[in-house]
Amino acid sequence: MKILIIGTGYVGATTAMVFAEIGWQVTGLDIDAGKIQRLRQGRLHFHEPGLEDMIAKHVKSSRLQFTTDKETAIKEHDVIFLCVGTPSLPDGSADLRYIGQAAKDIGRSMKGYKLIVTKSTVPVGTQEQIKKWIAAAQQEAIPFDVASNPEFLREGKAVEDALRPDRIVIGTDSQRATEQLQRLYSSFVCPWIITKPRTAELIKYASNSFLATKISYMNELAKLCDELEVNVKEIAEGMGLDPRIGSSFLQAGLGYGGSCFPKDVSELVMTSRKHHVNLRILEGVIEVNRTQYTYLLDKARLRLGGFAGKNITVLGLAFKPDTDDIREAPAIRIIDQLLLEQANVQLFDPIAALPGHASYRAVKVCSSAEEALRGSEAIILCTEWPEFGQLDWKKAKRLLRQPNFFDGRNMLDAKRMRGIGYYYQGIGGDH
Ligand code: UDX
Repeated sequence: MKILIIGTGYVGATTAMVFAEIGWQVTGLDIDAGKIQRLRQGRLHFHEPGLEDMIAKHVKSSRLQFTTDKETAIKEHDVIFLCVGTPSLPDGSADLRYIGQAAKDIGRSMKGYKLIVTKSTVPVGTQEQIKKWIAAAQQEAIPFDVASNPEFLREGKAVEDALRPDRIVIGTDSQRATEQLQRLYSSFVCPWIITKPRTAELIKYASNSFLATKISYMNELAKLCDELEVNVKEIAEGMGLDPRIGSSFLQAGLGYGGSCFPKDVSELVMTSRKHHVNLRILEGVIEVNRTQYTYLLDKARLRLGGFAGKNITVLGLAFKPDTDDIREAPAIRIIDQLLLEQANVQLFDPIAALPGHASYRAVKVCSSAEEALRGSEAIILCTEWPEFGQLDWKKAKRLLRQPNFFDGRNMLDAKRMRGIGYYYQGIGGDH
């Protein structure tokens, strides 16, 4: 079986690497000629630890190829994975235009049986819709199957997550498709769920929304912890030892960001509304996350007596460490607000960059944490990059105008920071 991957973003590039790694012949297809050009040279267009080396290895071995020629690629491949983006529309529902375009391209160009598999996160019912799109685009009736195989990889950990998944979820309505997918993944040792397409589609949304719920719950609890002078990190530790709860995703902070959680939670709420079901918990999860970044800003504003004319250091821009992705990053909202209130923003992130908008021209983008700390009146830590934990904060204090530290990720030790003379505040984590 020859595998075609349509879309070479995070999910597509990683999926292509995984199938090449386990021995299949893989082609990555994208409409962006620049991306394809780089990938052909074994270079990635985004930062993901370890992925570029793996891609380069398989480009060299010729097990992995890249093309922009969709017609030939569709004709020549038996199994087609859809890994294109499904961004949010203004109302919060998923925009399926790229999925629709790929389905039409497949319908138009296919000459024999194809198995089409969605890896992109798509709303419940999309498998049925894709079938209609393909059938409508065909000139003559040629058999095909459409299956759902959601991807659960995390950015920053894409290689390890994709090579050692904790489960493989396959939604199909065809025996032939099931058998082909079992063959494709036969070298993976992990639990399998083989189910209806709608179930597979919903498992993905339900999983991400549940994780987002854990985070918003802890973020709310953190505010209560502040009032009760209790450390939310200890609460999380105590809760996490219960295997029914689990210790991950209990870190309070500035709120969740990234390309998945915000859009997936919104889409699930939209789907539930369409079906006249009120998912009140998720409405609450969204609302908590929408305003979470203001919690620490309010504390900082109070401490400084306003931001106007003050030098504020923002440490970290990416929505989480080990990525250059700034989509829905809380740091962006914080910078926007600081600029609105006429602060002088001094920013450092090890790899992520601000968008090129004119509005960010006022931000002083620094090439080291030390540079960003010089003359600062308050530090707001937005991303828990390990190097911020390793910095010599005692020495760094000499660079500051005022040692005010607002830790948006509860990363540093409150007692230690106070011991060396900082005014330190976290989010429920500084007691
Ligand atoms: C997520 C899912 O984990 C993954 O399974 C899915 O396929 C895609 O979406 P990702 O977006 O890469 O992956 O990020 P993740 O590591 O899950 O973190 C999401 C956000 O939650 C980040 O902004 C992170 O800072 C925040 N977070 C995470 C918390 O605020 N607290 C936590 O305890 C964990």
